[in-house]
Amino acid sequence: GKVAVLMGGTSAEREVSLMSGTGVLQALRTRGVDAHAFDPAHHDLSDLRRDGYQRCFIALHGRHGEDGTVQGALELLGIPYTGSGVMASSVAMDKVMTKRLWIAEGLPTPRHVWLAPDRQSPGDVRAVPAELGLPLIVKPPREGSSIGVTKVRGQSEMQDAVTLSARYDADVLCEEFIDGEEVTCAVLGAGPGARALPVVRINAPDGAYDYQHKYFTDDVKYQCPSGLPAAEEAEIQRIVLAAYRSLGCRGWGRADLMIRASDRKPFLLEMNTSPGMTGHSLVPMSARAAGISYEDLCLMVLASATL
Ligand code: DAL
Ligand code: MG
Repeated sequence: GKVAVLMGGTSAEREVSLMSGTGVLQALRTRGVDAHAFDPAHHDLSDLRRDGYQRCFIALHGRHGEDGTVQGALELLGIPYTGSGVMASSVAMDKVMTKRLWIAEGLPTPRHVWLAPDRQSPGDVRAVPAELGLPLIVKPPREGSSIGVTKVRGQSEMQDAVTLSARYDADVLCEEFIDGEEVTCAVLGAGPGARALPVVRINAPDGAYDYQHKYFTDDVKYQCPSGLPAAEEAEIQRIVLAAYRSLGCRGWGRADLMIRASDRKPFLLEMNTSPGMTGHSLVPMSARAAGISYEDLCLMVLASATL
């Protein structure tokens, strides 16, 4: 039956989603799937039913795409969709809620301070470095692709960092900076059948793994297979699977982590429930290392579409 590849949308990650969706659309068509692009920024989701779509591949990122809202609309329309359901999507979209849940599960995540909209006075902002140390990370809890993120190196940079983050989200998340290396680990499947893919190591120049470097340069170097000691790789995969299950994710996802240099301890940063599928994205890279082509990956994710 007809498949809609949902792409574009209205979030700050629209541009990334268009790149992901274009790749997915082409891959599905190559494999003979009757797939069509559908941009919720330009069409009402209820058109999906009118136009006879039987399944949706969600290649949207960010708000109104990855956050449970589109998932809820598709539930009401009765159209199966890829990836996590309403609850897991909405919790995973919010890094503060995600961290609370992981903390409750005893999973490692950097210490944080949540600046709710009524906790952003100059005094509140100034107090954060004393609690988390410097440098620290300031980010909007419901964004992706490093949008609105600042690494704060001194007290004088705090206010600008909070102001930037608040442009994207009324809540602001401040996080302890984990000095070490960034890795990412994808998961395919659901429940007991979920499996972690090979870990990807990210080597960014001077820690500059930002929006520009993520999608528009080749300055960042990736390693997959990771070359990490087998025990470390296995431990990361174990933690990521536990993190994925604790959120109730299904279909697919990708967790981002830091490994602390001093003791090699991994810390979970976040779970992406609609991971990037661009030419620079990491789930395709990891799948390839596991012997799964980009086209096969798209077919596997599509096959997991459910209500
Ligand atoms: N938020 C981007 C799309 C990612 O995590 O891949
Ligand atoms: Mg993200």
